[in-house]
Amino acid sequence: MPRITLVALLAAFVACRATPRALAGPPPDQLPRFTANGSLEKPVGWETWVMVGSSTGLSYTAAPPPPAGAAPGMFHNVHVQPWAYQVFLKDHAFPESTMFVLSFYEASRKSTPARAGFYEGDQLGAIEVHLKQRGIDKTGWAFFAFGDSAGTGAKLPASAPCYSCHATEAAHDNVFTQFYPPLRQRLTQASAR
Ligand code: HEC
Repeated sequence: MPRITLVALLAAFVACRATPRALAGPPPDQLPRFTANGSLEKPVGWETWVMVGSSTGLSYTAAPPPPAGAAPGMFHNVHVQPWAYQVFLKDHAFPESTMFVLSFYEASRKSTPARAGFYEGDQLGAIEVHLKQRGIDKTGWAFFAFGDSAGTGAKLPASAPCYSCHATEAAHDNVFTQFYPPLRQRLTQASAR
């Protein structure tokens, strides 16, 4: 083998080895971490992830409408890891290890200068996480619920109603993309091509 080719090969090998791993895949701090017994560690920094949707007063059961002027019900906010969001924009599919975080806020109107309407008040209850991981459940996703101050959350059993409602009612891969404008738009664009 000519000497020059050998040097070039060696240089390429060194360059490959020197590339930081994080550039090739998701940043480690956005990946799920598990305890020895299979519980999920509460994601850190999810408030800084991409917020894909917010709803207020969304009820999953046939509840009577609130009286005129009353708060419509809690706000639900939905966040997803920035890297999973970017992959979705490119591939129109959620990568393995995607995590959605659902958080809840009081519908509040106690502040001036607001004369009408509601804003997000105090956070209510704990977050819930929807994680995509092959083999974890027959849907390919698992739900985790966290106590108010708990650092870890147990996987909810496959018999929990979460799984069946998401599997049958959610628009895309068990996720309620129909309620999340940027994801919904991306899927509409992709199907129009
Ligand atoms: C009857 C249907 C239904 C059931 C049951 C249900 N969900 Fe959902 N879920 C929704 C809808 C609708 C949304 C859309 C966002 C919202 O609530 O504002 C959602 C969104 C979510 C999200 C945000 C990511 C996504 O997948 O869209 C999480 C996390 C979540 N639910 C967790 C749970 C957990 C945990 C349970 C069970 C304890 C559960 N859900 C049960 C209908 C349901």
